[in-house]
Amino acid sequence: MTILSGNARLAGIIAWPVSHSRSPRLHGFWLQQYRIDGAYLPLAIRPEHFATGVRGLVAAGFAGANVTIPHKVAAFEICDRVDDTARRAGAVNTMVFQDGRITGTNTDGWGFLANLRGHDVDPAAGPALLLGAGGSTRAIAAALLSEGVAVTVANRTRAKAEQLARDLPGLRVVDWNARDDALPDHALLVNTTSLGMAGHAVLAIDLARANPATVVADIVYVPLDTPLLQAARAHGLRTVEGLGMLLYQAIPGFRAWFGVEPVVDDALRRFVAADLLPA
Ligand code: ATR
Repeated sequence: MTILSGNARLAGIIAWPVSHSRSPRLHGFWLQQYRIDGAYLPLAIRPEHFATGVRGLVAAGFAGANVTIPHKVAAFEICDRVDDTARRAGAVNTMVFQDGRITGTNTDGWGFLANLRGHDVDPAAGPALLLGAGGSTRAIAAALLSEGVAVTVANRTRAKAEQLARDLPGLRVVDWNARDDALPDHALLVNTTSLGMAGHAVLAIDLARANPATVVADIVYVPLDTPLLQAARAHGLRTVEGLGMLLYQAIPGFRAWFGVEPVVDDALRRFVAADLLPA
């Protein structure tokens, strides 16, 4: 049990609902590992109470908070200041409170790149093909583009990919049905759709068309080893699993709130993964 002092630093994750969030477990592991006088709480705040809830946390002296579904755009709007990463993503997932002011950033794209690097994959090795056009796609595409990587997006609803391309200059769009044809020209394939998630359909893509050096990444982490990653390994391709992105995206917030640069290691990975196994 953690005993807090009156000086304890407080942070948490704002979501609705919040019960499925793994962030309290993840930050809790680090708080215990580094023996920090602090706590990271699940904060279930309804969309209609978001602004009041955030102002309450500021007033209560919280150091900041993570924000997830469905609040990332509302968080962008409530911040007094946002950085370029948040601006390009159009969404905030990490808020820092200081002197009554709210600063917002978006660490999803950074977390994705850090996870690649953690697997000894150079994000800039070649062009990337992203499947999907949701909030995560936007953050990952923005991060890759800012590394100078050529990015192609394919989404079932093409109009959403085209909207993304208007917001992120340089992004190329191909038709969802042309994804197999596009694959050989890309060094990195990233699934940012919900396909492959437990209870969802499996992503169909012809991995036999991939260049042997292509790296296949999935941002789905339930299950940890998705059908796409399994198929990629069966084709002899290198893979990067989605859990790492969740772990790495948490680093900047933890550092800002608790003053320690936490490390993503196998012990953390096992601890968070243990909670993801089917019941
Ligand atoms: P996010 O949570 O990242 O904001 P989302 O809105 O939940 O994303 O969307 C999930 C992604 O999976 C979308 O790109 C969606 O495609 P559409 O924009 O066409 O809805 C994609 N997706 C979900 N089910 C799919 C399916 N059966 N086939 C192809 N793509 C699918």
